[in-house]
Amino acid sequence: MSQPLKLAVLISGNGSNLQSIIDAIESGQLDAEIRAVISNNREAYGLQRATRHGLPTRVLDHREYEDREHFDRALQHYLQSIGPDFIVLAGFMRILGPGIVDAFENRILNIHPSLLPAYKGLNTHQRALDNGEQKHGVSIHLVTAKLDDGPVILQASYPIEAGDRAEDLQHKGHRLEHRMYPQVLRWLSNRNLEIEGGKLFYEQALLEEPLQYDA
Ligand code: GAR
Repeated sequence: MSQPLKLAVLISGNGSNLQSIIDAIESGQLDAEIRAVISNNREAYGLQRATRHGLPTRVLDHREYEDREHFDRALQHYLQSIGPDFIVLAGFMRILGPGIVDAFENRILNIHPSLLPAYKGLNTHQRALDNGEQKHGVSIHLVTAKLDDGPVILQASYPIEAGDRAEDLQHKGHRLEHRMYPQVLRWLSNRNLEIEGGKLFYEQALLEEPLQYDA
């Protein structure tokens, strides 16, 4: 038997993606262990979710650090002390600098509410609506030093329908996200997905295009 995948989950807010990972672990669908839930925001509701499930939490409030580098260094230090296989950004709204990204090269994942490379950054739902897009989506990707860049592992899209508001798109995206993150982590835990030298291998074949989530 292989060891459970050791995860650190980083959040800034509601933590519904964190919840989907906790649920997958507790229901036996994902062989993983959350070593810590870390938030830069003391008020993040996701911290309460973690505590409710008996998971260790840690707040590193970025406002208490001199600059991004000091914050990243403290975060890196803490992450090194818990030794995760993967760092899972789940609604973590801070940009990680090159130092920490290098320190955990190939081991940081992010979920982003758009069909990357389209709509990097914030307010993706409203921007997609403003541009009259017909579809929007979700991407899970490997984190590199560039914002919302890095090879995309899995994507899912959904249609934008007449009358949809940003909240409707967010809701559609969330429904997909909650199935996608556990899926990607399951692949990593089962070694269906491997990451080497910044490249993704799915079932031992180089992944040239993102996998498409079949909802
Ligand atoms: C998710 O929709 C995620 O895609 C987005 O934040 C939300 C967090 O929701 N992430 C980003 O925008 C990162 N650039 P949650 O706290 O309920 O999991």
